[in-house]
Amino acid sequence: MSVVAPTPENIAKAAQVLRDGGLVAFPTETVYGLGGDATQDSAVEKIYAAKGRPSFNPLIVHVGGVDWVADIAQPDARFDSLVRAFWPGPLTLVLNRHTQCAVSKIVSAGRDSIAVRMPDHPVAHDLLMATQRPLAAPSANRSGFMSPTEAAHVLTSLDALPEMIIDGGQCRVGLESTVLDLTQTTPAILRPGSITREQIEAVIGPVSFGRDDPLAPKSPGQLASHYAPGLPVRLNATEVNAGEVLVGFGPVKGALTLSLAGDLAEAAANLFAVLRQADNTTLYNGIAVAPVPELGVGLAINDRLRRAAAPRNTAS
Ligand code: TXA
Ligand code: MG
Repeated sequence: MSVVAPTPENIAKAAQVLRDGGLVAFPTETVYGLGGDATQDSAVEKIYAAKGRPSFNPLIVHVGGVDWVADIAQPDARFDSLVRAFWPGPLTLVLNRHTQCAVSKIVSAGRDSIAVRMPDHPVAHDLLMATQRPLAAPSANRSGFMSPTEAAHVLTSLDALPEMIIDGGQCRVGLESTVLDLTQTTPAILRPGSITREQIEAVIGPVSFGRDDPLAPKSPGQLASHYAPGLPVRLNATEVNAGEVLVGFGPVKGALTLSLAGDLAEAAANLFAVLRQADNTTLYNGIAVAPVPELGVGLAINDRLRRAAAPRNTAS
């Protein structure tokens, strides 16, 4: 395993590792991904094993261009409008699989659908173009833990490290992409992210929140406990209890803060790195987090925080 700079030589090497069926962790604008050639069953199996990921939780396929999707899935008019507005960018779209789809069925975890996204990061883009394969890439952390937003985070929780980690510095967005299911008549947000419901509705009209609709299929990855640090998490804290570390936001000052200025985009970018810093069992016995407004990207921040605070289960 090596952590390398994103030079053209290293990207060419990484592309070869991927074509040979190996795994490479790489930066995207959201979080670091654990990438493997989506067309090779054995590469996809390695991803599930390295993450300890349940086999029922499907992976996102990353593409280097919108035109790659035509061979993989069945895009429709809503897809076309959305990618014109938001790609490359942090919006994952779930579509019906193409009948001749070359992507491993394991990626879809037994479903007829497939999730695709075109990341907005020069390193991810160069790697995809050099590899010329769709890359399956979940966040590069052990299933159930916090996502990595720096190269060093990738080293901390996986069961097996990838052959290469490409260091692209800190991820700009810091929260995983918004996942939108387009296989239903009314599209459903399965995972909130920095691209908000309002932004999506401005392009394609009404969408639902998967979570709110009991009839909508749940995103299989959206287990109650997720994104969890080792220490217990207490939400909406305005004061610190004995033994806790307070993670502040805006006017609520803590030993650490998501954003002193109360800026939601900054809080999203800092969330996982700050939770990792707070997760120090020698100094503390719990993490208290200040209230974050349920507005814009605040919805996605609170989604992650609620899962980080949820009772831990063994299924994740
Ligand atoms: O920002 C991101 O999306 C990052 C970077 C690396 O691109 N990737 C990421 O992947 O967060 P992962 O595997 O940690 O999360 C994928 C989410 C899961 O909630 C999964 O259940 C959902 O997407 N998903 C994938 N394929 C799906 C499908 N066919 N139907 C429904 N949900 C799907
Ligand atoms: Mg993840």
